[in-house]
Amino acid sequence: MYLYEGMEKAERKVRAVLVGCGEQATNMIHDVITYIDEIEVVGVCDMNGDRADWAAARFGLSRSYRDLADMLGEVEADCAFVVTIAGLQAKLAKQCVEAGLHVYTEKPTGTELGDVDELLAAAKKAGKKVGVSFNKRFDLAYRDMKAAIESEGFGRANAFMAKFIGGYRTNETDLLRVGCCHFFDLMRFLIGEVEEVFAYRYEEQVGRHTYAVAVRFENGCVGNLTFGSLGSWVNGYGMESVEIRGDRNMIFADNGRDFTWQKPSKIVASDTGLANKGTQAVTEEAVPVEILRPNYSNLGKLSTKDFFINGNYQCVKAFAQSLLTGEDLKVSGEDGRMALVLALAVDRSVEQGRPVKIAEMPEMSKRAAR
Ligand SMILES: NC(=O)c1ccc[n+]([C@@H]2O[C@H](COP(=O)([O-])OP(=O)(O)OC[C@H]3O[C@@H](n4cnc5c(N)ncnc54)[C@H](O)[C@@H]3O)[C@@H](O)[C@H]2O)c1
Repeated sequence: MYLYEGMEKAERKVRAVLVGCGEQATNMIHDVITYIDEIEVVGVCDMNGDRADWAAARFGLSRSYRDLADMLGEVEADCAFVVTIAGLQAKLAKQCVEAGLHVYTEKPTGTELGDVDELLAAAKKAGKKVGVSFNKRFDLAYRDMKAAIESEGFGRANAFMAKFIGGYRTNETDLLRVGCCHFFDLMRFLIGEVEEVFAYRYEEQVGRHTYAVAVRFENGCVGNLTFGSLGSWVNGYGMESVEIRGDRNMIFADNGRDFTWQKPSKIVASDTGLANKGTQAVTEEAVPVEILRPNYSNLGKLSTKDFFINGNYQCVKAFAQSLLTGEDLKVSGEDGRMALVLALAVDRSVEQGRPVKIAEMPEMSKRAAR
């Protein structure tokens, strides 16, 4: 039964505890959860008592917790949403898995490979699922981009270009491991597995840098990425874009919103009398670009909420549904791990000044052995 478009009344629910009630939790994940009938919040925890109390009030709970172990000891739940500090996420998630809970972490799954591997091993042992907030896979523009490149007539994707330039970072690893993990995941989602990277770094000071990365995918597609922290978090332009080229096709998404598809031009005449020979002697007629955009004026609808456009809602809902149906996760801790491996490969390429094959990363052989 539908309450509103996209909002179903759930017959079964998962009981969730919320770990971390900071900015991203309060403004995004908790907002999302209030819209998902399949999730019942049964406990909240934050080291910061005011934040924990605020979240408890919001979800109608009579008390909150400051300490994760206390909450896990007292509250019966099916899963935990861990939205804390990037470097702590994997350790806290492991604590939840060992207490018998499935777990969903905000990105990144972790910032150290050892922590992520320990989490995944613990989850495997306990038979629990690890989800990750790679919401860009569900972002409306990237979802449409995926459908476009898989459509008939697009041709094989031969070039992938992405840019992500945010504000200053506090340390040297945050940009690649925490910020760019979305894009390392998105390129795997849109194009496929990466074979090799070759990166250069411009650095003004620690945490203020730009990376230029050349990429070759296993399927032959080539690409380049520009990642940086000498930009801004608030400017509406020039922060994030993805472009993919097919056979005379070009699709482009700016700012994770506007999606433009330039389809092949029409061949109208040729002064040689021949059909398209692929030269400029052929007279072509441009085909208007298709621009796809949600209707921002109709704000009452779920589909125009920021957390729906950005894909956070769909990502959390897919996790809850996977727990209820037993189906595989659409995006998992293994994807979180792979995003971290790609960040480490880019780092290695900068340090060693050479192309780095993903298969040569020691982390890949450990993965095979797991
Ligand atoms: N998907 C996205 O695009 C996106 C966007 C922003 C942030 N994030 C991610 O969300 C996470 C949180 O970021 P934020 O900006 O909300 O940070 P924040 O600092 O505002 O919030 C973190 C909260 O975790 C709490 N915390 C820390 N250690 C804890 C512990 N051991 N037990 C309980 N609570 C603890 C803190 O008290 C704080 O309230 C990060 O991993 C970040 O990478 C994701």
